[in-house]
Amino acid sequence: IYRLNNLHKNEFNLKFVVIGDFGVGKTSIINRYVDGEFSQKYCITIGADFSLKTIEWDDDTRIFLQLWDIAGHEKFSSLTGVFYRHSVGAAIVFDLTRPETFNSVPQWLNDLRRKTQLPDGKNIPVVILANKGDMTVDTMPQEITDFCENNNILAWYITSAKSNIQIDEAMIRLIMESLNPI
Ligand code: GTP
Ligand code: MG
Repeated sequence: IYRLNNLHKNEFNLKFVVIGDFGVGKTSIINRYVDGEFSQKYCITIGADFSLKTIEWDDDTRIFLQLWDIAGHEKFSSLTGVFYRHSVGAAIVFDLTRPETFNSVPQWLNDLRRKTQLPDGKNIPVVILANKGDMTVDTMPQEITDFCENNNILAWYITSAKSNIQIDEAMIRLIMESLNPI
């Protein structure tokens, strides 16, 4: 019975990109979300990498989510457009313990917006992840909220790949927006 039902599921392929400066925790966030794992060791990403997560969204819907992990060192590289191609959502990550990585968020957003759009011509939905929330209480929330309001950002979250904070929530928000755009 279950097998038969599965045949009738609607299946969606969604591609999201995860961008932001080097060392902010993009790979860690993806590993946490996809495999439930975290490592203290910094293993630098070269170019780009991707992970696949299958999500049984509801009784009728299955999602094949591709998460593209773009190396922070690709900032200002002409390759990012290739990595972004066909993406329908993005997470821009910065590191709460290194405020300069928040200053790079506008550059990443600008690069993304210049090189992506949905098939209907609209901007792809974007969330901002203020990562390493387990390490600091100094969260500059008003600055981030203002930036989001002024730049058509869907939402922002204080996350931790280490402590598994708010990563599921952020991904669910992006998926919901991709399935049911407002
Ligand atoms: P690039 O691949 O160079 O672009 O970096 P990245 O953004 O993928 O960073 P990565 O996930 O490799 O994490 C860099 C370092 O930060 C690693 O040592 C991680 O263990 C650490 N880290 C990542 N997320 C967290 C977090 O939420 N909390 C803490 N305490 N450390 C974290
Ligand atoms: Mg990485």
